[in-house]
Amino acid sequence: MAYTAKDYSKLIGMNGFSETLLKNHFTLYQGYVTNTNKVLDTLMEMLSEGKTAAPEFAELKRRLGWEFNGMRLHEFYFENLGGKGGIGKDGKLAKKMAEDFGSYETWEKAFKAVGAMRGIGWAGLYQDSANGKLLNFWINEHDVGHPASCNLILIMDVFEHAFMIDYGLKRADYIEAFFKNINWAAAEARLK
Ligand SMILES: [Fe+2]
Repeated sequence: MAYTAKDYSKLIGMNGFSETLLKNHFTLYQGYVTNTNKVLDTLMEMLSEGKTAAPEFAELKRRLGWEFNGMRLHEFYFENLGGKGGIGKDGKLAKKMAEDFGSYETWEKAFKAVGAMRGIGWAGLYQDSANGKLLNFWINEHDVGHPASCNLILIMDVFEHAFMIDYGLKRADYIEAFFKNINWAAAEARLK
């Protein structure tokens, strides 16, 4: 069954994110959904036509990881936005952050530092399903660096398209705006 793009237009009006920026971002996201479906369909056709040894099959299969993660990471991203107010310090996510990083503030500093790294990609907070530990990771582009067997708790897009329209090169200002709009309830619900 084909993937369908979700509607995140309820995020329009968030402080620190212009309508133009968000609408452009939604359009980019829809492109990942379209291309994920296209790549999956073409791969199935090639399979049925016996073309799996062709270099085109290998290249498209590699492409799938990029398009699919481009789709799914944007869904996690838009779903962990639209909140108001900071994290509840007595909630289970803040408590877990304090346990694994020493304090919520230390986690926040560590996560922002990942987001400020040069390059295009994502800053992600994951929970290792093997031991429950929280870890921050840098994801290069959409597909490189995902930790195996870890669940995504919070994701922040730091591709230029996520902020340049509103902030130019001031990525740190975008990161501050992102933090003001985190939907902590959505992030906490992903915690096991
Ligand atoms: Fe994006």
